[in-house]
Amino acid sequence: MKPMGSKKRIVVLISGNGSNLQALIDAVEQGLISGQIVGVISNKSTAFGLQRAQSAGIENKTLSYAPFAAAESSRSAYDTELAKLVGSYQPDLIVLAGFMRILSGSFLDCFKDKVINLHPALPGAYPGINAIARAWADYEAGLTQTTGVMVHYVIPEVDAGPVIAQACVAMNSCQTLGELADRMHEVEHELIVEVVKTLCQK
Ligand code: GRF
Repeated sequence: MKPMGSKKRIVVLISGNGSNLQALIDAVEQGLISGQIVGVISNKSTAFGLQRAQSAGIENKTLSYAPFAAAESSRSAYDTELAKLVGSYQPDLIVLAGFMRILSGSFLDCFKDKVINLHPALPGAYPGINAIARAWADYEAGLTQTTGVMVHYVIPEVDAGPVIAQACVAMNSCQTLGELADRMHEVEHELIVEVVKTLCQK
């Protein structure tokens, strides 16, 4: 049992640029979040987010899927190893911030109610990859005006699970997909910080 009032231990899982990780690093450094990022784990050694973690003095590791891929039950073997690695940080909160792998129920069972995910779409809309581009295609086809961002607890189903917070983004203020992507990332950075801040207060 951790002492009352101690800082929450946060582990962030990434696969790429890590701009949301950076938003969390900045918010922790500014004292907005009562927590500490104790580890950053990527499934890609080339993820720029690893350099962001390094620059901030945060322990960072890569657990690549490639060595597991050939084995039978490769996914569960990878998730077992990942659970060991994540568990070694004794996290209170695990943030999937652009982590491009689907986590199995056996991984999630190790960290009940501790794993949250950021997804660039509203609940139920555009699960999976390229959510921003798919929303933009629908906007251009006249099918929708609005997309958004959500943070939710993770369940085995992709980009689903109890919603913690969401924010809408009106697409008619954007001229291009690039502009929408920039706006979505701004909103993501605010929302993920707000959610992690709130969860660390509990
Ligand atoms: C974000 O749009 C996130 O919602 C999605 O992947 C992207 C990661 O961006 N799942 P970054 O690596 O945090 O810059």
